Amino acid sequence: MRIKMKLVKNLIIAAAFLATAAGIAVQAQEKAQTKANPVPSIVQKDGRYALMVDGAPYLMLGMQTNNSSDWPATLPQVWPAAEALHVNTVETPIYWEQFEPRPGQFDYTQIDTVLAQARAHHLHLVILWFGTWKNGSQHYMPEWMKLEPEKYSHVINKRGEPVDSPSPFAQASLDADIHAFTAFMKHLKAADPQRTVLMVQVENETGTWGTLRDYSPQAEKLFAAPVPADVLKAMNVSPGSRTANWQDVFGTEAEVNFHAWAIARYVGQVAAAGKAVYPLPLYVNAALRDPIKPGAPGSYESGGPTDNVLNIWKAEAPAIDVLAPDIYSNDTATYLKVLDLYHRPDNALFVPETSGSVANARFFFSALGRQAIGYSPFGLDYTRTPAPQAGATSAQDSFLQPTAQNYILIGPMMRDIARLNFEGKLQAVAEEPGTPTQTLHFGDWDAFVTYGSGRGAAPRQGSEPTGRALVAQLKDNQFLVTGMNAHIDFRPAGTEQQRKSQQIVNGSGQTPSAQIDGKWLHRQFLKVEEGTYENSVFKFRRILNGDQTDYGLNFSSAPLVLRVSVATY
Ligand code: DGJ
Repeated sequence: MRIKMKLVKNLIIAAAFLATAAGIAVQAQEKAQTKANPVPSIVQKDGRYALMVDGAPYLMLGMQTNNSSDWPATLPQVWPAAEALHVNTVETPIYWEQFEPRPGQFDYTQIDTVLAQARAHHLHLVILWFGTWKNGSQHYMPEWMKLEPEKYSHVINKRGEPVDSPSPFAQASLDADIHAFTAFMKHLKAADPQRTVLMVQVENETGTWGTLRDYSPQAEKLFAAPVPADVLKAMNVSPGSRTANWQDVFGTEAEVNFHAWAIARYVGQVAAAGKAVYPLPLYVNAALRDPIKPGAPGSYESGGPTDNVLNIWKAEAPAIDVLAPDIYSNDTATYLKVLDLYHRPDNALFVPETSGSVANARFFFSALGRQAIGYSPFGLDYTRTPAPQAGATSAQDSFLQPTAQNYILIGPMMRDIARLNFEGKLQAVAEEPGTPTQTLHFGDWDAFVTYGSGRGAAPRQGSEPTGRALVAQLKDNQFLVTGMNAHIDFRPAGTEQQRKSQQIVNGSGQTPSAQIDGKWLHRQFLKVEEGTYENSVFKFRRILNGDQTDYGLNFSSAPLVLRVSVATY
């Protein structure tokens, strides 16, 4: 009997030893894998951001599929569009209703399918977790949740009625989302050692339409309680108000701030749980409010990361790396204002959804000029129009053209653009109506961009602004220059000191010049090299001179990349 007991004891010790050894082996394998294939991350330096992929800054040239495109039946209509667009990244959803058809039973087939197909097409992915929220509703919750609305409860409006939006106070929904999202991230970690997936969006356009917040008894109690200290701090409210409730502290903004607080806390917990198992960059997207003339609460989706509550989201959902705007406006001032509002010292700019229209394509450059880490027009796959037959040139593809033009130009040098932007050496702009000239300052040089002008003539803009320009400083007197429908030239700008202390007079002759410290300096091109980028190396094609440079550098809609060396005489 004693011998038997001893044997059992030894067997248990041996099993424990083997289990520990196996655990250590898995950890070592994971470590080696992470070293060879680092997990994508967002890094910040001197107030600038980069998305690091394979250890270097990366610019996501993206497209987002239509909502119902991530199925085996429709993915074949996604990849040819991605190819025609020249994207490097496809954003596509994973649907909670597909992922967890029965409580606790996870179906990994669709994530595995999209991973395999993206890899076969040499593309990266951003996965959108269509979980508790989708455009403010709960339409992607699995059936078994939809059938139990008492448990997975809806927001209750002022009249006491349930609305088509999930309650951020539904603990059962939160637990279920955490459980499912964690299982998803765990699987992704195991299934994607290649790092095909660069980022994950948690939920989609969170918030509520039609009511400002939840008025359930539980919500009412919290709304009447003192505003939590972290919210006061985030919103820069004086400590004197610490005992006051939401209404007292925030007045007309009380309801939206309260709803944002509740949703950000919920999403923050889902995100933190997923990140704990696989630390990919995570972001949330926002259905915006008008950034210039915001209407009263109620005129926009309440509770999501709109510009007025970004601080609340930052404080309550620290596992979310980026708060990202979905920009569908065509108005220049509105578009640029949104970019400015979401490009903050504590937030990298990322545009996960926008329109791919002719009118909007140039804003890709405005985003680059604000160090965007990625850009991704929405709905650009062939589920809405059949793909043209091989070889056919078809108007069917016209909805892809504006985005394709941008990516054909920037794609070959996207690593350089991302690096130069991270280093603070790049500036980019888009044409603004009524502003025919824009000036970019680079040390001793100003780059000036004019739109719509003829040779040497006074700038005259066309009716549809389409111009865009990008200049990056490679050396003191050397620049990478590209653009579309724009004219770019350089003018001596003097040193910062000279600019501060002297009046600098710009010349008006054909050659850009400036009088600095009483002395005229004229720009001359030392060399204007036309080339292409291949694997981050500028491949010289020819020198441009004569008619091609005598009136500055002209960019049409055809891709053109120049390396320009300047001097003065
Ligand atoms: C914004 C949402 O985030 C997308 O999923 C989609 O519904 C578009 N609006 C509109 O088609």
